[in-house]
Amino acid sequence: MNLLELKSIGHVYLGRAVLDGISLTVADGEMVALVGPSGCGKSTLAQIAAGLVTARHGQVTRSYRHSAFVFQEPRLLPWATVGANVGLGLAGVAASRREKCDKIAAACRRVSLDEADWQKFPSQLSGGMRQRTAIARALVGDPDFIYFDEPFTALDAALRRRMQDLVIACVANTGTGGLFITHDIQEALRICHRIAVLDRRGQGILDCVSVPDAPGQRSDELVFETARRLLRDHPLFSVVEECDERRIA
Ligand SMILES: Nc1ncnc2c1ncn2[C@@H]1O[C@H](COP(=O)(O)OP(=O)(O)OP(=O)(O)O)[C@@H](O)[C@H]1O
Ligand SMILES: [Mg+2]
Repeated sequence: MNLLELKSIGHVYLGRAVLDGISLTVADGEMVALVGPSGCGKSTLAQIAAGLVTARHGQVTRSYRHSAFVFQEPRLLPWATVGANVGLGLAGVAASRREKCDKIAAACRRVSLDEADWQKFPSQLSGGMRQRTAIARALVGDPDFIYFDEPFTALDAALRRRMQDLVIACVANTGTGGLFITHDIQEALRICHRIAVLDRRGQGILDCVSVPDAPGQRSDELVFETARRLLRDHPLFSVVEECDERRIA
């Protein structure tokens, strides 16, 4: 069963077409990576898929029960503590105060936030801690579909790997599906079942590459070698490297 179906999505910002003719599906228990040059419309597409932005053209069909979104920036409430921010992910969930506190504590532990930090405010956190708080807020409500928009960019290499493992385990253990935007091909190869490459002007998915074996069962050597080969040989992946504003800057 498909949890998400995008058909011929098109969008326009300020009279300029940002997306055109994008079709993509995500199946039950599948994590699909979305890669493409900076500014090609990845975040816009994810927000359209999640229902946060209404597409000008096309059709979105969502068959999941409950979704969560990890944005490119943490988007925490500055006047709320870590615990209260994570608790926002439980808004509307019928549970006792005790149960909610237990869920919040478990979510914080999953993203390696120490108990001493749960009463801190966002201004008292490092960039990586803020991002982990945002990830905990997404996980706390046990979503069956998660949108990740470059969620690990603020994390150091070790923590980034731990968070990648958390996503892999989440998908393998609970059948969660999702869309995972990243600029890091190795990250996409570690976490995802398929990689969709968006054209540099957001005009269609150039292609989808299926990654062999299940996420979590791929060795570092395989991931490294496959990334090197894709970037060298595959015309789709050269597009990700081209025109990246952050590289040019
Ligand atoms: N709210 C908005 N109003 C007007 N233009 C917008 C808006 N949001 C995005 N855009 C424009 O749409 C285009 C696609 O932006 P988007 O953020 O989706 O790209 P992206 O692929 O996620 O880039 P990055 O990899 O840098 O995050 C860009 O040209 C951007 O300037
Ligand atoms: Mg973006």
